[in-house]
Amino acid sequence: MFRKYSGEDKKYLFFLCLHPQIRPLNSYPINEMKILITGSNGLLGQKLVKLLLEQGIELVATARGVNRISYLPIDFEYCEMDITNKEEVNGVISKYKPGVVIHTAAMTYVDQCEEDQEGCRLLNVVAVKHLVQACEQHQIFLIHLSTDFIFDGESGPYSEEDKPNPVNFYGRSKLDAEELVKTAKCDWAILRTVLVYGVTPSMGRSNIVLWIKENLKNGKPVDIVDDQWRTPTLAEDLAMGCYLTAEKRATGIFNISGEEMLTPYGMAMKTAAYFDLDTTVIAKVDASTLSQPAKRPPKTGLILHKARKILGYQPRTFEEGIKILDEQVRNPMS
Ligand SMILES: NC(=O)c1ccc[n+]([C@@H]2O[C@H](COP(=O)([O-])OP(=O)(O)OC[C@H]3O[C@@H](n4cnc5c(N)ncnc54)[C@H](OP(=O)(O)O)[C@@H]3O)[C@@H](O)[C@H]2O)c1
Repeated sequence: MFRKYSGEDKKYLFFLCLHPQIRPLNSYPINEMKILITGSNGLLGQKLVKLLLEQGIELVATARGVNRISYLPIDFEYCEMDITNKEEVNGVISKYKPGVVIHTAAMTYVDQCEEDQEGCRLLNVVAVKHLVQACEQHQIFLIHLSTDFIFDGESGPYSEEDKPNPVNFYGRSKLDAEELVKTAKCDWAILRTVLVYGVTPSMGRSNIVLWIKENLKNGKPVDIVDDQWRTPTLAEDLAMGCYLTAEKRATGIFNISGEEMLTPYGMAMKTAAYFDLDTTVIAKVDASTLSQPAKRPPKTGLILHKARKILGYQPRTFEEGIKILDEQVRNPMS
């Protein structure tokens, strides 16, 4: 199922093989696996494209508009696909007939979802229905990305079996999407994640680490919440969780996040310590002092036992994540 590589591509793949963390291509247990990614221009989408290319997997990247991953020195299949357009979804999936669809695209800004509930529903729920139907028709393994925000945050960290109870529209929409996926008549997996951070050469959004670093570097005072708990997730770890799920064809619900329970204040202190920055400009605040359109769950975080046991998932620590991100900012091609 591998795609044909050009001479230039082969040079890049050879380069990748020199990296010890990447197995040589011919040592992979090749399962018939062509993977189609939705939302490939997003943070997770970009990390997934890079990882799957490194792993020698045949892939089709899809997103709305033009391909914004032009920085990789290897060519890959790209196709425009607006997931809210049912005909387009059917057409693209029928054309490529992948073995696996990894659905990363979504409306991910929580306040935007609260303010544009119709748009959020279209993207986060109706579009999922289109994908489920297309996957059912061709018996494709659907891997769907979900969130800790399906929980109310009263008793985190949560296991896969805990009872959801969203407190905002984003969480509601993602939970409704989960219900659609769970009743799909094809193999499916739901990967729930938390506060994803990372950097790519064509970044669509900033992240908590870079935001804190930038402010502290410029001596700007920052008010940071200390009563919301999360298990922040390095984007590379989440991409690996998706890959492991596809490779093992593991079905069901899996928590894929970081493991450390931190507040944004705790994340700021760790970021300051890593970059050796002055912490006196950091002020702790309560979430109640912020005026945000969407309510946030106070304490989420996810328990990872199942993903560790079944997928062999091993997340990095927050410090390791900051180090990786720092290296990528210095050398965008790393
Ligand atoms: N980021 C987090 O902290 C977080 C936390 C929990 C769960 N998750 C979940 O993890 C998944 C991946 O998140 P992420 O961080 O990679 O999000 P992201 O960076 O915001 O990427 C989402 C992508 O979806 C694309 N998209 C929007 N509308 C589309 C449409 N109609 N057709 C095709 N693509 C469309 C966006 O395209 P444009 O770039 O063109 O706008 C964007 O590239 C999502 O399902 C999200 O709900 C994320």
